[in-house]
Amino acid sequence: MSETKTKHQELQRFVDEWAARCKPDRVEWCDGSDAEYDRMLGLLIESGAAIRLNPSKRPNSILVRSDPRDVARVESRTFICSASPEGAGPTNNWEDPLVMRKKLNALYDGCMRGRTMYVIPFCMGPLGSPIAQIGVQLSDSPYVVANMKIMTRMGKPVLDALGDDGRFVKAVHSVGHPLEPGETGPAWPCNPENTYITHFPEKRTILSFGSGYGGNALLGKKCFALRIASAMARDEGWLAEHMLILGVEGPDGKKTYVTAAFPSACGKTNFAMLIPPKEMTGWKVTCVGDDIAWLKPDAEGNLRAINPEAGFFGVAPGTSMETNPNAMISCARDSIFTNVALTDDGDVWWEGMTQEPPKHLIDWTGKDWTPDCGRNAAHPNARFTAPARNCPVIDPEWENPAGVPIRAIIFGGRRMNDVPLVYQAFNWSHGVYIGATMGSEQTAAAEGQVGALRRDPMAMLPFCGYNMGDYFRHWLSMAKRVKEPPRIFHVNWFRKKDGKFMWPGFGQNMRVLRWVVERSRGQAIGVESPLGWIPHYHDIDWRGLDFSEAQWDELMGYSRDRVKKQTLSHEELFLELSEALPKTMIFERELLISRL
Ligand code: OXD
Ligand code: MN
Repeated sequence: MSETKTKHQELQRFVDEWAARCKPDRVEWCDGSDAEYDRMLGLLIESGAAIRLNPSKRPNSILVRSDPRDVARVESRTFICSASPEGAGPTNNWEDPLVMRKKLNALYDGCMRGRTMYVIPFCMGPLGSPIAQIGVQLSDSPYVVANMKIMTRMGKPVLDALGDDGRFVKAVHSVGHPLEPGETGPAWPCNPENTYITHFPEKRTILSFGSGYGGNALLGKKCFALRIASAMARDEGWLAEHMLILGVEGPDGKKTYVTAAFPSACGKTNFAMLIPPKEMTGWKVTCVGDDIAWLKPDAEGNLRAINPEAGFFGVAPGTSMETNPNAMISCARDSIFTNVALTDDGDVWWEGMTQEPPKHLIDWTGKDWTPDCGRNAAHPNARFTAPARNCPVIDPEWENPAGVPIRAIIFGGRRMNDVPLVYQAFNWSHGVYIGATMGSEQTAAAEGQVGALRRDPMAMLPFCGYNMGDYFRHWLSMAKRVKEPPRIFHVNWFRKKDGKFMWPGFGQNMRVLRWVVERSRGQAIGVESPLGWIPHYHDIDWRGLDFSEAQWDELMGYSRDRVKKQTLSHEELFLELSEALPKTMIFERELLISRL
């Protein structure tokens, strides 16, 4: 039975109840120490799930290989179990909370036999911040404990902050693979047939079963910081968003903070750590966060944001010293790599890391790999878990409990045609409409027809913990809660002509970011267009880039007819949400059509 580690009665009851149900061999309260972290790595190595990397190449780091069936988030098994189906809305899977609890209670019964249940107190956001929130995750996975140590503020200080009556989100996780006496089990235990990632927004509770991987198992991230937190934010007047946060410093030394929401695989981590072209002297970008932002009005009505996380859980393939040196340096040490390839000298490799692949590797499944073998060396969703403090451009204010003041919000997607490089919303409600109707073209990496447009409102489709129509209404209402709402922009780095990208992207995106920052400070010119305010060629800083006015006109141009047709196709999303959709969304659409 659980040793008493807290005077918090509700927490003690929570731990006792779940220990009685899951029947672990022992219960261990995590203190968050380095010694505990080392012990977790030791357990992973001993079990055969992990390999210690060569300390002279990758100090204090390991490579973990998951079960090949347990490699990504599973949206089809993710549920919002709100009291009513309307609470979850048509874009989420819903199940009656009582029905789901019954099903899960049966699965959790005895599921931790032969294992340790770790009690992981964690804080999303800097401890003591008025925007931060505390959670307690129970888990039978040392991989989860080690990742939570990097991704959150975790352990004893959190328990102290919780005191004997503090509020906390309850999170329960099991890999769903009990052990018979004497059995050691597979290196990466999981239970894919019975995986459930479930959220009970009214109870502020998360129950996750059967998967040990990333977003399914590190419950502070998508489950708490987005799905549960979005419901808390609606009730309490703030926003929990799938957004990076960055700071831009100009030659005048002034700092402007910006958030940006892009769907998965559209370069959020790259944009968050952007290195400006050297010719743009005096311009500097710093990173506050690369995936999630919590935004809350302060007492003076300024919208301030924190990054609730303390690390990066980044997609490895495609990351290189060319595309994102700051991410490469962040994971140069103290990191956990999952499903990447192993080099012969004990380091890691993945597709896109170097132009020339090594002559021999052990691939993510543990098999020999050579460049001509016809298989990927790393899984396309292979990840690095790296501490944010390792990032060379981490913003000095990234742990400021008060958060950073947000002046601009950027929405964006991957669009081949007819969506210009950048435009600015006329006002807040137009901006909310732009975010609500944003979409991205499917890549080959995901199921579905390549090139087909997937609507992904505010990049929150898989992460909004309540009815998407109510979510739009909440966004609209935020304008009344802040003194000066941030300016809203839309960008598209992915426009193509003859199969080639028309915009160089990466560091060159600084040219767009400069205009965004100056617009939100009232310092740059914008021209009115049907889509919104746009820059003229001469409003962009072109130092160091040969980009003609004709190229610019093409990049910013679009067919009014086609855009009108696409705007009419927003009908599909709107019809799906019809019951909860705010009227303002319909008005904004009418306005756009008439402008076109
Ligand atoms: C992520 C995602 O892992 O969006 O950040 O899938
Ligand atoms: Mn994400």
